[in-house]
Amino acid sequence: METEVITIDGPTSSGKNSVGFLLAQKLGYQYIDSGSIYRAGSIMVLRNNIPLTDKEKIVEVFKNLKLETKTQDHEARFMVDGDDITDHLHDPEVTKLVPIIAAIGEVREATKVIQYRLVNSYNTVMTGRDIGSEIFPNAKHKFYLTADIKIRAERRFKQLVEKDPHIIYEMVLQDMEKRDQADSTRAVSPLRVPEDAVIIDNSNLTQQETVEEILKHIKNA
Ligand code: C5P
Repeated sequence: METEVITIDGPTSSGKNSVGFLLAQKLGYQYIDSGSIYRAGSIMVLRNNIPLTDKEKIVEVFKNLKLETKTQDHEARFMVDGDDITDHLHDPEVTKLVPIIAAIGEVREATKVIQYRLVNSYNTVMTGRDIGSEIFPNAKHKFYLTADIKIRAERRFKQLVEKDPHIIYEMVLQDMEKRDQADSTRAVSPLRVPEDAVIIDNSNLTQQETVEEILKHIKNA
């Protein structure tokens, strides 16, 4: 039986990951955040001290990435070679490195193989930047989430300030503008609205309301 994939793309802090997770739980689908694949590979690049100039070794890391995912205590967990790396996915040095690594064409090809493998046996909700446009362009249900950049920066600020009380909102906003710019203008698979995607601006919606909106579209399709 062919498995179904629901794609959700969008910029950073558009809520796609929390919404994707909740949606998957409602539908009984597995949830895959493709950003975590790029992040997991970036963690391995850092752990192995591979310099950014050594593209070949970086690509090798992604080709050999033994990644598994599971849901535990209502959370998506990621394991590499059996080691649970979930708590390191959003470390600042990883967040800094990942857009650079995700812009390498061969890294994206290797990640595509992982993405196809992960959806092989299960209906899936997958979130990312290019899921509806490049990875599963034939998916029946495609969504693009977005929100005002100031609201997205506030969301990210609230997450970060819990870990670091000295964090400054303006810096978070600036970093977000830079990352939006990098993700939308890179040569390979830039962030864009996939053809046929339903666009949802959730600036004034809660996560739950966004999920309801998505479910409404799926029912009416
Ligand atoms: O979604 P998240 O912030 O975890 O993604 C981290 C980075 O991974 C993004 O800034 C982007 O550069 C990259 N990414 C990507 N394609 C995806 C998902 C993430 O290029 N499908």
